[in-house]
Amino acid sequence: MKFCRVCDSPIEPFMSFGKMPVANAFISEKEFNNEYFFDLNPASCSSCHTFQIVDVPEQEKMFHDHYAYFASTSSIMTKHFKTLSEEVLKDHIKTDDPLIVEIGSNDGISLQHYSKLGIRHLGIDPSQNVVDASRKKGISTVCDFFNRQSAEKIIDQNGKADIIIATNTMHHISNIREVVSGAKILLKKGGLMITEDPYLADMISLNSYEQIYAEHNFIWSVSSMKYLFNLYDMEIVNVIPNKYHGGCLRYYLAHKGSYRVKQSVGLYLDKERNIGLLEQNIYKKFHHLCKASRQNILKLIDKIKNNGKNIVGYGATAKSSTLINYCGLTKEHIDYICDSTPAKQGLFSPGAHIPVVSPIEFSNKYPDYSILFAWNHKKEIFQKEKNYLDQGGKWIEYVPKINIT
Ligand code: SAH
Ligand code: TYD
Ligand code: ZN
Repeated sequence: MKFCRVCDSPIEPFMSFGKMPVANAFISEKEFNNEYFFDLNPASCSSCHTFQIVDVPEQEKMFHDHYAYFASTSSIMTKHFKTLSEEVLKDHIKTDDPLIVEIGSNDGISLQHYSKLGIRHLGIDPSQNVVDASRKKGISTVCDFFNRQSAEKIIDQNGKADIIIATNTMHHISNIREVVSGAKILLKKGGLMITEDPYLADMISLNSYEQIYAEHNFIWSVSSMKYLFNLYDMEIVNVIPNKYHGGCLRYYLAHKGSYRVKQSVGLYLDKERNIGLLEQNIYKKFHHLCKASRQNILKLIDKIKNNGKNIVGYGATAKSSTLINYCGLTKEHIDYICDSTPAKQGLFSPGAHIPVVSPIEFSNKYPDYSILFAWNHKKEIFQKEKNYLDQGGKWIEYVPKINIT
């Protein structure tokens, strides 16, 4: 029997995506026979309503010295976190010499905005290569997993935090109770924790099942976050939505009673109940939609290939690993995936072993069709690749539905 990682109740997956590799584990040819696979089985806990993957690979298999995701590859996300830093400094700082701690600071995409202003800050991230990139920018960063123990170390060396930031990270960490337990002791009285992740209701409404993969061990909702933080006497005091990564929620969290709870929290809790997010039925329907999406994608690709045209992928996203492997796509279907991240180029996609190349290869010889795997960066990519359409190329989008332009 399996148990919920938030409330320990027995838990049953509502479907299986089958055997999956770790989504960011791009590999070289010599590693093909040694690849790690696990069963990707999502579940929604009937007691605390946390949406989670039931079997999770060990965190050391996902976060290490060759982690493939460098957040700063997106200029739009860089701007987004600059805006967040402006909000933090203007609205949320109450002391003279504040300390900002970021959990999952990656290559410093967020903390750079504080470090440039000489504000006390500390990033913590277990992936050595992104930590190196962050330190090169002059950002103070510890290479470690955030948990109760590392939180104690941070407090010993730096004192408590005024602000804790954890964007696109809360869904990555399987031992999530350790994180909240660490945040509880690290956060000053009157301090604020700000997290932001893909939102379960948006994932369901877009049928963007690709959001589920190892590392995305959880897809959070207001109901499940409320339950989790309540275990440590903390509460959500505000919730703000945005459209990044296909729809995220930003949660503002604090020690219970230290802030006035905004109306948004109650409104979201009502919404989640009303749309059926707390019932199992919605996940049965979601399962059917996943199967239908797989059928439609395969039908379209077969049709294009039968017409003698070629297809490539644009953006070797971690997300696309779920889609590619669930649909059984290989390099027979997709010639290559282009991606601007040097660390991914020259390697092969996890599971399907599709070569990853630089976008230069794409612009040197435009393909007939390109599947936009980085659909969440559509605006930036379409802008960058304007010539492709002018030269007769076609984009295939598949979220929320298949669309060819
Ligand atoms: N905050 C950035 C990066 C998110 S990627 C952004 O919003 O874009 C998630 C990061 O979390 C990765 O760099 C990964 O190494 C890190 N991470 C994973 N487990 C962690 C843990 N237990 N503690 C701290 N960081 C962790
Ligand atoms: P992203 O969607 O942010 O995350 P995930 O891997 O978690 O699904 O990844 C975007 C990928 O797309 C990243 O590998 C960089 C790549 N990319 C490009 O190749 N060109 C671009 O213009 C942009 C914005 C991203
Ligand atoms: Zn639970």
